[in-house]
Amino acid sequence: MGKPAQPRVLLGVGGGIAAYKAAEIVRRLQDRGFRVQATLTAAAQRFITPLTFAALTQDKVVTELFEPGAAQPDSASAIEHIEVPLRADAFLVAPATADLLAKLAHGLADDFLTTAHLAYQGPLLVAPAMNVNMWNHPATQANLAVLRGRGVHVIEPDEGAMACGMYGPGRLAEPDAIAAEVERVLEAGRGPRDLEGLSVLITAGPTREPVDPVRYISNRSSGRMGFALAAEALRRGARVRIVRGPVALEPPAGAEAVAVETAAEMRQAVLERLPSSDLIIMAAAVADYRPRQVADRKIKKSDAALAIELEPTQDILAELGRLKGDRVLVGFAAETNDLEAHGLDKLRRKGCDFLVANPVGDAAAGAGMDSEENQGLLLGAAGERIELPREGKAAMARRIFDGVAPALARRKAHV
Ligand SMILES: Cc1cc2nc3c(=O)[nH]c(=O)nc-3n(C[C@H](O)[C@H](O)[C@H](O)COP(=O)(O)O)c2cc1C
Repeated sequence: MGKPAQPRVLLGVGGGIAAYKAAEIVRRLQDRGFRVQATLTAAAQRFITPLTFAALTQDKVVTELFEPGAAQPDSASAIEHIEVPLRADAFLVAPATADLLAKLAHGLADDFLTTAHLAYQGPLLVAPAMNVNMWNHPATQANLAVLRGRGVHVIEPDEGAMACGMYGPGRLAEPDAIAAEVERVLEAGRGPRDLEGLSVLITAGPTREPVDPVRYISNRSSGRMGFALAAEALRRGARVRIVRGPVALEPPAGAEAVAVETAAEMRQAVLERLPSSDLIIMAAAVADYRPRQVADRKIKKSDAALAIELEPTQDILAELGRLKGDRVLVGFAAETNDLEAHGLDKLRRKGCDFLVANPVGDAAAGAGMDSEENQGLLLGAAGERIELPREGKAAMARRIFDGVAPALARRKAHV
């Protein structure tokens, strides 16, 4: 048997000051086993030469839509803008200038890169880089929203000192982080589509319980785990609805997301959607307590100690455990100690089919809430016990669905 084909990345280089970093991106992609072909816009060639990329990629660098000689009937280059993107497994635009983002968002096709973009059908990633004012401009942000809405992966720029002397977001993400994202997107594209025809409801993020009109009690949940689960469910073909507390992150494109604030609002939104769901995953960190009284005016500062009396919120997971019927219910438990024993206890008490027990506090050593990584145990009511090693939340989401999918298939077979 021959070696498996190397996945191919088409790298589109835009005309920004960060174009020189695109050479480093080629190297980092190659480190990860990708074969890279580059195309440079006219403006990009003012910053870096095609020769650099030809030498690094050992492949032809495309710079022109209308190549000399393209009109010859036997010319291979005549339809390169179709053929080159067809060969690519991923299309990465880095750096993506403000101008390129606008062109991609609006479907302009006046050079090779933008024409190839329209002919291309696989995953598209853009790594923007520009001056902070250009980045913050409503036009740029609107173009990014259009691209995100279309399922384009936007690799967020870093914040920091920029070539123009200003400080802020807009600096090209690190080349290795960009290469890692290409790898992640391509890996996420593989795997089963075992949730087709199913409706998945996922809660994510914290809740906020008001103390007075300006203060609230909340927790560190970022929504990352819930959104990673949503992205994985989408990839496996499910209809995905997210009920999310206040988070800074954007939910994955393709999911229907509703924003709530308090535990009571989350409960309401989840119960409304329960009848039309096949699988419910409660990844939100719902407040267990809320202030008994919410002051209708801002509580004035004084030197005296202030006691706020808390009352329990309604336990959404336990309620779902009672109401779920033959739907599959997955809960989350954050534990500081005795992960398995506490997890099994919660699994039974709440009537879940599965419980993801994950360590928090010292036991988690930097993983878990408000971090990129997570770990734990997936425990099932039918005796399933799956170790979830420490890894990125996208990878952990994949493992969770691998563990839960057989139970869903069994339910489906019964109906
Ligand atoms: C020195 C210099 C640096 C530039 N850097 C950037 C940049 O970092 N990001 C950006 O969006 N535009 C930048 N521009 C503006 C772009 O070069 C210009 O918008 C160009 O039309 C983009 O072409 P493209 O669509 O091929 O990327 C820069 C221009 C100059 C002269």
